[in-house]
Amino acid sequence: MTTAERQARIFYFSGTGNAAHVAQWVVEAIRGAGATATTLNIDGMDRCSIEPPEPDVLLGFVSPTHGFNFPPVMLGFLFSFPRTRHRNRVFLMNTRGGMKLGRLFVPGLSGIALLFAAAVLMAKNYKVAGMRPIDMPSNWLSLHPSLRPKAVVAIADRCEAIARRFAIRLISGRTDFRALLDLPQDLLIAPVSLLYYAVGRFALAKSFFANAACNNCGACEARCPVKAIVTVRGRPFWTFRCESCMRCMNECPNRAIETGHGYVAGVILIVYAFVADGAWMAVTRMSGVAVAGPLLWWIRFVFDSLVLLGALALIYRLIHVNGRHPGCQHILVATSLTRYKCWGRYRLSEILEAKRTMNSNKASSLQG
Ligand SMILES: Cc1cc2nc3c(=O)[nH]c(=O)nc-3n(C[C@H](O)[C@H](O)[C@H](O)COP(=O)(O)O)c2cc1C
Repeated sequence: MTTAERQARIFYFSGTGNAAHVAQWVVEAIRGAGATATTLNIDGMDRCSIEPPEPDVLLGFVSPTHGFNFPPVMLGFLFSFPRTRHRNRVFLMNTRGGMKLGRLFVPGLSGIALLFAAAVLMAKNYKVAGMRPIDMPSNWLSLHPSLRPKAVVAIADRCEAIARRFAIRLISGRTDFRALLDLPQDLLIAPVSLLYYAVGRFALAKSFFANAACNNCGACEARCPVKAIVTVRGRPFWTFRCESCMRCMNECPNRAIETGHGYVAGVILIVYAFVADGAWMAVTRMSGVAVAGPLLWWIRFVFDSLVLLGALALIYRLIHVNGRHPGCQHILVATSLTRYKCWGRYRLSEILEAKRTMNSNKASSLQG
């Protein structure tokens, strides 16, 4: 096989392992095609030490999709990535939240994830040669229960084949822009990605709490890829740096991390029903500023969002201070959906490992 580039470097960020697995499949496929390839986890990577790529090195970037965009940690990485003088080819892959309903594989939504990242790299003189969403099993357990292991295996197997085919196309010097077929729907939901970036992710950061099973082992703090969890009063505390990658919740050895659905919904309700209007009237009366039209809508939106985030930050502090109080714990846990056993946790590596063991046991019993 003739390869356009003999070398590939795949940079990835992964919260719960989906993007990490995709990066690994891509590297294996590229090596299988006779080129050399390495994966580079951007977690804790010293960005200043990254040198501009040599000519004829193919670069790949693999990241989960958060709020119809790449998460801030990956965007920050792309922004700080060195320019090229050689117009190196690059490809982008976003793992999305896929589902399986019966026989139907349900895709996630990219929004501006690939488009924005491609624009950033093009501005740095890279030549985008491929973009591909990969619909891995959804890890967003703040939103929905975990998928059944059987569905996870079926979705992952399908994604592995897609990722490998894509990698071989790219290392053979070809291009792949099938991601652009989603362009109409991606552009339609683009505004939501801005809302998520400006408000949603901060609100989500304040939705996590530790239940009574937490023994402050420090695993969540140590494993957090963006160092967003700190220990306050002997309990984990999620700061606004949190990107809701879900690693802490899914990997906690004591299953002690929950999402506070009831508490967050309660704060949203109180802010929008009682607080935001009053605060807005007080501020406009005091400042005497009169604006109208679409500008007013935007100012009001920013104002309400700030009030909401302020309220969440304040109440989150109070909850944290009283976190060990049995009454407070009881209310938080009772109104959380993640506490139900059936909600589960997402552990891709464990599921794939169990499948491998089962297959090899089957193979050896057939041989025997
Ligand atoms: C906070 C958050 C936001 C997400 N937003 C999206 C999204 O906009 N579109 C989508 O298809 N999947 C979304 N997902 C699902 C993940 O992108 C998906 O499960 C991904 O494969 C996870 O990759 P990872 O295991 O490497 O972190 C979201 C997940 C989380 C936790």
